[in-house]
Amino acid sequence: MRVNTLRIGAAIAACAMLTLTACGSDDEGGSSSGSGGGEVEVFTWWAEGSEKAGLDALVKVFDEQHPDQKFVNGAVAGGAGSDAKNVLASRLQTNDPPDTFQAHAGAELTDYINNGQIEDLSSMYEDEGWNDVFPQALLDRLTSDGKIYSVPSNIHRANVVWANTQVLEDAGLDPKATYDSMDDWFAALDKVEAAGKIPLSIATDWTQVNLLETVLIADLGAEGYNGLWDGSTDWAGSEVGDALDDYAKLFSYTNKDRQSLDWPDATQLVIDGDAAFNVMGDWAVAAFDEQKKVLDKDYVAFPVPGNDGIFDFLADSFVLPVGAPNPDGTEAWLQTVASAEGQEAFNAAKGSIPANTEADTSSFGPYQQTAIEDYAQDEIVSSLAHGAAAPIAWLTDITSAVAKFGANQDVDELQDGLAEAAEKNAQ
Ligand code: GAL
Repeated sequence: MRVNTLRIGAAIAACAMLTLTACGSDDEGGSSSGSGGGEVEVFTWWAEGSEKAGLDALVKVFDEQHPDQKFVNGAVAGGAGSDAKNVLASRLQTNDPPDTFQAHAGAELTDYINNGQIEDLSSMYEDEGWNDVFPQALLDRLTSDGKIYSVPSNIHRANVVWANTQVLEDAGLDPKATYDSMDDWFAALDKVEAAGKIPLSIATDWTQVNLLETVLIADLGAEGYNGLWDGSTDWAGSEVGDALDDYAKLFSYTNKDRQSLDWPDATQLVIDGDAAFNVMGDWAVAAFDEQKKVLDKDYVAFPVPGNDGIFDFLADSFVLPVGAPNPDGTEAWLQTVASAEGQEAFNAAKGSIPANTEADTSSFGPYQQTAIEDYAQDEIVSSLAHGAAAPIAWLTDITSAVAKFGANQDVDELQDGLAEAAEKNAQ
């Protein structure tokens, strides 16, 4: 039996943070640590619809694998963690962590590491053999100073266009067409507009950031886009300016009620035939699947124009927070998250692809098969809207600039805002 260094580490950290209570007693009432099992509060933003269905599939495996532990759903609604991340930040600040929480691989995870809010899981990786089952490029994004801090549940792609076949045909467009550039796509969007449908559906701020990152990828290319995060591409320069003009043009094709919608609503406009196109991460495929829509018949999916050969990557992962009330339960959850069985059940329902290379994906749907192929051969870049590219503070400032643009459609102000955000946050 291995020595549970995680549990000891978490307990020491919890003790260090508690000023009054005697360590070793259960200060949280509902949860208990120790080998007798207990409640495991799992904090995510998978609160509704197809995302909750993904979580439910994972919980089913957890219940089978760890009947002594009881899953407690700590989900806070809001796509991309738009509300959950704030709630989590204040809970972590007041030393009230859940037993585990969802965090994106990459820069967002580094925030939690640098703040000392999550435990090093390196010994668990060694004991469980996880270094051999996850792709190295992904492990690198979960690692800081040689230590690894979270367990990935999946890999998503953020730069996908979803389109309604019938709406395209009615507008005189070939549903099989893909578009090489933004300009080619604008011509198609004009046709949809002329046919009286919403050309491009979108939702609240974070979905606009998601759209913006795909335009930056299209116009700057992978190298130029990567340069936005390491200082080698100038946010105030003319190339970014041209990309922002394209973004502004795309934005002019979007639905006016966008601020009151979240991603499921925007994708639903395409599913229902009210809109032609939607740019969304591939969690969207789970919404099409849930409603029994068939790829290449009812809808088509392809990389955002100009993004061909580039996989805009993000991964969800789970952590052991410092001071987690039931670290045994957290460990059990992480084991299920990592397991081939957990990854098969979760990803099949979620629309993502397994991070665990031993998971069997033969029964996955046709969209996911293309994502598996593309992930293996495409150039990988890090998603901005989903925590892979930039720390939370930088993303927050970019989101403010994008939200302002949504209100005033002033491209120069948008570029100034983005350049200021880079100045303030780039390391
Ligand atoms: C992402 C997350 C995905 C999906 C999406 C929409 O940030 O990684 O799993 O949930 O938000 O909410």
